[in-house]
Amino acid sequence: MKIAIGNDHAAVEMKKEIQAYLTELGHEVVNYGTDTTESCNYPEYGEKVGRAVAAGEVDCGVLICGTGVGISIAANKVKGVRAAVCSDVTTAHLVKEHNNANIIAFGARIVGIEKAKDIVKAYLDAEYQGGRHQKRIDMIHEIENR
Ligand code: RB5
Repeated sequence: MKIAIGNDHAAVEMKKEIQAYLTELGHEVVNYGTDTTESCNYPEYGEKVGRAVAAGEVDCGVLICGTGVGISIAANKVKGVRAAVCSDVTTAHLVKEHNNANIIAFGARIVGIEKAKDIVKAYLDAEYQGGRHQKRIDMIHEIENR
């Protein structure tokens, strides 16, 4: 898969480790995040990854900031984005299965690197279940159009 990754200053090390992990798993990773720990603004990176995902330039995205929250809120402002913050493996597979999340987010200050890898793997391995869930996703996107 082609995967966009983005992060702010709070998540540089974790981004590097997740990027390497994704590459190891055989994915192509496009880095939209910052590579320095100099203070920066997470909305910039949330938007960049959100736009890449919404435009279909990549298959999905991974966003990391201190909590995963700010950067996912920013990404969710891009039409077509469904970014989900996860701190556990169960949520990580359910956000694909039920919500067809096209971006997974987590916090470098919240989860350790091994948990972060498990979260990403659970998300990537899961499949969207469609069916009754599609109507609800359609309803979410109707909100964007109102
Ligand atoms: C940066 O200090 C921090 O606010 C940011 O990484 C993130 O946690 C915001 O949601």
